[in-house]
Amino acid sequence: MKAIEIRNKYLNFFKRHGHAVIPSAPLVPENDPSVLFTTAGMQPLVPYLLGEKHPAGNKLTDYQKCVRTVDIDDVGDNRHLTYFEMLGNWSLGAYFKEESIAMSFEFLTKELGIPVEKLSVTCFAGDEDCPRDDVAANCWKKVGLPEEKIYFFGKEDNWWIAGEEGPCGPDTEMFYDTGKEPCSENCNPSCGCGKYVEIWNNVFMEYYKDQNGYRKLEQQNVDTGLGLERMTMLLQGKETPFDTEIFAPIMEKLESLAKVSDIQSRRIVAEHLRSSMMIISDGAKPSNVDRGYVLRRLIRRMTRHLNKLQISLEELEGLINLTIDNALEMYPELEANRAMIVSTIVEEKDKFVKTLAHGEKEFEKALERAEAEGKNVIDGETIFKLYETYGFPPEVTEELAKENGFEIDASKFDELFKAHQEKSRLGSEQKFKGGLAEQNEITTAYHTATHLLHKALQIVLGEHAKQKGSNITVDRLRFDFSHPEKMTKEQLEEVEKIVNEKIAEDLPVTCQEMTLEEAKKSGATGLFENKYGDKVKVYSIGDFSKEICGGPHVTHTGELGHFKIKKEESSSAGVRRIKAILEK
Ligand code: ALA
Repeated sequence: MKAIEIRNKYLNFFKRHGHAVIPSAPLVPENDPSVLFTTAGMQPLVPYLLGEKHPAGNKLTDYQKCVRTVDIDDVGDNRHLTYFEMLGNWSLGAYFKEESIAMSFEFLTKELGIPVEKLSVTCFAGDEDCPRDDVAANCWKKVGLPEEKIYFFGKEDNWWIAGEEGPCGPDTEMFYDTGKEPCSENCNPSCGCGKYVEIWNNVFMEYYKDQNGYRKLEQQNVDTGLGLERMTMLLQGKETPFDTEIFAPIMEKLESLAKVSDIQSRRIVAEHLRSSMMIISDGAKPSNVDRGYVLRRLIRRMTRHLNKLQISLEELEGLINLTIDNALEMYPELEANRAMIVSTIVEEKDKFVKTLAHGEKEFEKALERAEAEGKNVIDGETIFKLYETYGFPPEVTEELAKENGFEIDASKFDELFKAHQEKSRLGSEQKFKGGLAEQNEITTAYHTATHLLHKALQIVLGEHAKQKGSNITVDRLRFDFSHPEKMTKEQLEEVEKIVNEKIAEDLPVTCQEMTLEEAKKSGATGLFENKYGDKVKVYSIGDFSKEICGGPHVTHTGELGHFKIKKEESSSAGVRRIKAILEK
């Protein structure tokens, strides 16, 4: 069974069982700057787990695009992935343990045809916060799982929470027996030897945890997650996800191009290409902070492993296109973003290549210094210099060090890195304050003009032309947006024309306050920087544009004067910048 068939079976199964199929939320959370990427299907659903009514009802199912970055350094082995797809179903105070377990059992055994003998499960053993989950265990017995296949473990194994605070609860995890020999007499699903592979996790979310401890939620929820790549691998009897159709074409291509045989490097290239593609498609750009930095690391590490395989970097564009082609059936939205994905990865690779040679020289020197001093550690200052001056992600330095039999002083690097981050955070707060400083009549007009420009760009260039930044002074507006290439003269003229038409129509500008969720539902665009539940202002310009924004704005577009684009230039990889003025 192919991955897409498993996904479809899953969604159809839960649809038949009364669930509404909802779309995958973006990989880059729109509503929560504190989270780098969506890491689980429940993440976009937190307000609903806490009691808010979901517009699609109280039984939901979806496939969710996820990135987990903790595992980056493990990619290359036979199982770790940074990008994966999580199939999930939710009860928002509807059904609880019995139905949830019955449905999971039916899906695994009937829909996927997994023999009962291959299955075992774990349940929560109980502690001072929450009793032993005999209810779940009894549900498993009732559907036909023998008692000896039901294990009990503590919070480390059978309690699930995203991070430190939030909805949580005991879970029951389902495991697939690969048929390998037990590692010991005590071999069990939690031992990690590889005989048992976790395939599904049903969390009974009826608690909320904060600094004060656990309290019961008002409703009893179910949150489940099934990793699609892993399930695909098991059902196809493959040893690794890289042997399934999700990666096989790109793995084969890499093998045919490589002059050096190195399966780990091939997996790293294939995996990082796929996760970079998904991250870029959902709107992130390489940078030196937060999610942009994760993306940068992925692309740079991928580039280095192409070098290790002695694959010409000229091949990269073809490899990206192959990765996109191979994923299109599952993610048709990639087609619209193809040009942007290709150019973003290629440009980042180019940047890295420029500094790679210099950086490697610097690294050689550090090696010689360390050797002369009789040490086998690369010091933190060197790692930081390689990072800051030569764009070497520390794990690239670490890999280089290891290849030479050296360690790195990671803790010193972390210290220097944190100080650096703090500096750039303060810098951007300053910039932000500066951006708001000169609010008066003129800047108000530019503010409204920015909304018209944003919408006009989307009409002329396409939906991908999303706001990446904005800065307004009394002299001009500056607007950054995602777009992979230089705009043509015709496109610029067209954008100007649309904005001036909307000014001529003297459209009313109105403001409504609503919750972020209502704003999203109403189709408003904008930088979703607020938290769920926050009230936001939504500014509408006639029915031409609708954006979440703090304002202020003019009351009618007729007040704006004549709109003129002065400059269109590159801002950073995949981001263009327009400077424009309003003439009275
Ligand atoms: N949220 C649960 C998980 O990620 C289902 O495992």
